[in-house]
Amino acid sequence: MLKLTTDEQAMLDGAGGRAKQRAMDLLVRYAEALGAERFVDTTNIAGVPGSSTLFLQNYYRQKGDASYEAVFSQFDLDSDEIVDVPQVEVHACHLQGGLDPVSWPEQGFSQEAFAHQLEDEAAANSHGIQMLKTCTPYLAGNVPARGEHCAWMESSAVVYCNSVLGARTNTEGRESTAAAMLTGKIPDWGFHRDDFRHATHLIEVDVATESVMDWGMLGYFAGLTVGESIPVIHGKLSQPDLVRHKHFGAAAASSGGVEMYHVPGVTPEAPNLETALGGKKPKVTFRYGAEERREIYQSLNANGKSTQVDYVMLGCPHASLDQIQEAARLLDGRKIATGRALWIFTSRSVKGMADLMGLTKTIQSSGGVIMTDTCSAIGRFVPKGARVVALDSAKQVHYLPAMMNVEAWFGSTADCIRAEITGTWEGICP
Ligand code: F3S
Repeated sequence: MLKLTTDEQAMLDGAGGRAKQRAMDLLVRYAEALGAERFVDTTNIAGVPGSSTLFLQNYYRQKGDASYEAVFSQFDLDSDEIVDVPQVEVHACHLQGGLDPVSWPEQGFSQEAFAHQLEDEAAANSHGIQMLKTCTPYLAGNVPARGEHCAWMESSAVVYCNSVLGARTNTEGRESTAAAMLTGKIPDWGFHRDDFRHATHLIEVDVATESVMDWGMLGYFAGLTVGESIPVIHGKLSQPDLVRHKHFGAAAASSGGVEMYHVPGVTPEAPNLETALGGKKPKVTFRYGAEERREIYQSLNANGKSTQVDYVMLGCPHASLDQIQEAARLLDGRKIATGRALWIFTSRSVKGMADLMGLTKTIQSSGGVIMTDTCSAIGRFVPKGARVVALDSAKQVHYLPAMMNVEAWFGSTADCIRAEITGTWEGICP
């Protein structure tokens, strides 16, 4: 039975205005559906509040009002009444979405779509929402502290938030994040609670796992085997850095629904294996050895037939500065032939640093492009005529071939850039 505090009841009764009332009403229905008994105060929200595609805007225009307030009210707050949306209550940022602010014509968007994005952004800014426009808010200045209750969308960011930062979030939707921005509340359920955060499944790693590519393949295996459960990863592991965590988590959240994992001695809530498991025995133990790794590599490359690569996409999840540096180093002094494309996706803030460091210029001199805000899968675009793609992200391989009807190869960043320069895929299973 859900119990409300005095301030929550006051919001529900309308003391904070109609928008907060509608937001609280939505959150109460959500909490009751989950079986939550209370709310927690949340201080960090990542969502896509009030944003809309042209398609969505046209839908609301036909209904009579396509303003930011109308979309926020009806689509985000599930309110028939269009309410005045106030400033957000707590730290709130906008995740990825839309189109690159410069390269949108190459992505296939219209002037009208670009103009609409500018309008949406101005409206969100005016409500106090930080326009990070990335799936890696933790690389763009939004780094919640351990134990902080968050409300985040975007599966790769959620798993990083829970596992690496030790902050707490379920995988929320645009409705619950929008409502949380206005109220500072989210149901006390799932990953907000201590007893939910222990591992239940053990993955014993029996093959050296070191490179970013290794960690991506291991993540893909973890998702396939544990599904939506929490794995603890143990065995022959190198110390994972930020990028390895990023690729592991994104892969595990794609092949399965992993929202949290532990690595004993590495992730903050797993000083050792016993603690990660909450003192219990694992329900299931999986072994990941050379044979399993080969099978994962083959399944990630199952879509590749022609070795003639015409598109390389890097930056899924959005590239870190380290990854852009690596790409610039691999490309330095080389030329990408006409008819092939290299697009690297990142956040606006990381691109700003890449610009200042001259990395963007190096990549552009080779014929590559750094883009922000979006990616091929989320934006559903590839360079015109692209048929065969090389990717260094297990997550992107999981989604892009089916979404864009392209063949895809998976390998290391170096494999991908070599293919971009030579035009031929030569990746091999490590
Ligand atoms: Fe980000 Fe696109 Fe990958 S939004 S996590 S780069 S699918």
